[in-house]
Amino acid sequence: MKNIQIEKATLEDTARLQEISRKTFKEAFAAVNTEQNMARYLDENLSFAKLSLELEDDNSAFYFASLDNKTIGYIKLNFGASQSDLRDPFATEIERIYILKAYQGKNIGQLLFEKALEIARKNCHQYIWLGVWEENKAAIRFYERNGFVAFDTHLFMLGNDEQTDILMKLQLTDLPNRNNK
Ligand SMILES: CC(C)(COP(=O)(O)OP(=O)(O)OC[C@H]1O[C@@H](n2cnc3c(N)ncnc32)[C@H](O)[C@@H]1OP(=O)(O)O)[C@@H](O)C(=O)NCCC(=O)NCCS
Repeated sequence: MKNIQIEKATLEDTARLQEISRKTFKEAFAAVNTEQNMARYLDENLSFAKLSLELEDDNSAFYFASLDNKTIGYIKLNFGASQSDLRDPFATEIERIYILKAYQGKNIGQLLFEKALEIARKNCHQYIWLGVWEENKAAIRFYERNGFVAFDTHLFMLGNDEQTDILMKLQLTDLPNRNNK
């Protein structure tokens, strides 16, 4: 797909981020979770206040994918202490990567992933990691195709539903880069 723009989000983009975050999350998971658990997750994790705090965090970065000025997806990266697990200073976490349903399978997720790769390499990070719901087979395929391998599991709460996430890792280098940060 041509004319896809990848741009970094700023604090002024909070409303835009909230709209795409909530829409894509509902599209992806409303059919397989209770209404109550979805509402709780959206309130607790994708509120305007929470997202503006995340946008202000120097240890996180959001990038939008847009087509003809329409926002069609985004990625959230975490570094250092803002990672949701591990917290390795030499790693990048992809905490969220979401494309609107109507635009999935058109290589846009790939472009966002390549942005993550570019940032991780620029920071001389040794690996990229993420957690993905064990039932999210399409996303797991997407990550495997990009070289990620499973290395652990952890629990993820969606409302009051305890779900298992598979932790996956893409090794970028085996060389220590402790002087480059
Ligand atoms: C996972 C996701 C980010 C991938 O982005 P994408 O733009 O659809 O993926 P791309 O077009 O770059 O790559 C397509 C590949 O992704 C996988 N894929 C995932 N979801 C897909 C979908 N709905 N349609 C087609 N392919 C999909 C396939 O393995 C496909 O590979 P193939 O062409 O060899 O079959 C996107 O599908 C998405 O937002 N899914 C819903 C939200 C989600 O699950 N996010 C991850 C949470 S951990």
